[in-house]
Amino acid sequence: SVERALRPRALSEYIGQHRVREQLEIFIAAARNRGEALDHVLLFGPPGLGKTTLAHIVAHEMGVQLRQTSGPVLERPGDLAALLTNLEKNDVLFIDEIHRLSPVVEEILYPALEDFQIDILIGEGPAARSVKIDLQPFTLVGATTRAGMLTNPLRDRFGIVSRLEFYSAEDLTHIVKRSAQLLNAQTTPDGAAEIARRARGTPRIANRLLRRVRDYAEVKADGRIDVAVAGAALAMLEVDPQGLDLMDRKLLEAIIHKFDGGPVGVDSLAAAIGEERDTIEDVIEPFLIQHGYLQRTPRGRMATQNTWKHLGLAPPKPAGTPD
Ligand code: ADE
Repeated sequence: SVERALRPRALSEYIGQHRVREQLEIFIAAARNRGEALDHVLLFGPPGLGKTTLAHIVAHEMGVQLRQTSGPVLERPGDLAALLTNLEKNDVLFIDEIHRLSPVVEEILYPALEDFQIDILIGEGPAARSVKIDLQPFTLVGATTRAGMLTNPLRDRFGIVSRLEFYSAEDLTHIVKRSAQLLNAQTTPDGAAEIARRARGTPRIANRLLRRVRDYAEVKADGRIDVAVAGAALAMLEVDPQGLDLMDRKLLEAIIHKFDGGPVGVDSLAAAIGEERDTIEDVIEPFLIQHGYLQRTPRGRMATQNTWKHLGLAPPKPAGTPD
């Protein structure tokens, strides 16, 4: 994929997420010294922050192979059993969207995680019997957008739980500069910073914007990405000066214009903007909430003073204020 080319392969190349990086560095070094598999790792946080990248890095740093799958792909217990029984000593099994494992598949994961054993049922009816199979020790790296969506027994089996945070503009600027170098794109420091500032704290978005801004710079200018070219390209892409995109604004405008500023339940909001509830909760909302454009209350989502201001509207007067 285009994304893969920009992905750091070693922990030393990984920018940002300093706390997670420091912890992994120590736990990986300790496991390696003991010749053991790293404890199971749960990575959670909004999409595009580097969960898949970190899973690959863990395998690389441990000097083992990585097998990759995802929750929805594992339909039957046998699908997971086939993967588990093919792992070599201390390998990494990466399960993306691990909150979407079916209960029957999750069931066979428990003894695999705890004792490196699986119980599989052979045969049917009265002749059916359970057979234990020993596995090689391995590391499960699970990724999910929200840790709260895991069942307690599954969450309890991860010895290392890491929450990925949105990146600072400074860290994202380093990432944009690194990616530009790998893509042979010429950026000025403030051109790179402008892309970073408008990337919703997310490396995947920063790298995507960089590619599109590079296209713009090559066709509409001399190829050099300075702050003026970046600004013009991002305006064309409908990424606004605060980095909000079309979907962000559509959601905020719906709350204000269709629901009087809220509170509005997420399902009503989903219907109003024609978007999946999960996409709203996992992809769109976290950044808006963190940056004060949206409030999550027990009665639903609400616009903030910031929301009106950002959309160029006058906020409603507080109740009881004379006209
Ligand atoms: N590319 C995407 N995410 C990255 C990160 N965290 N560090 C370096 N390069 C990246």
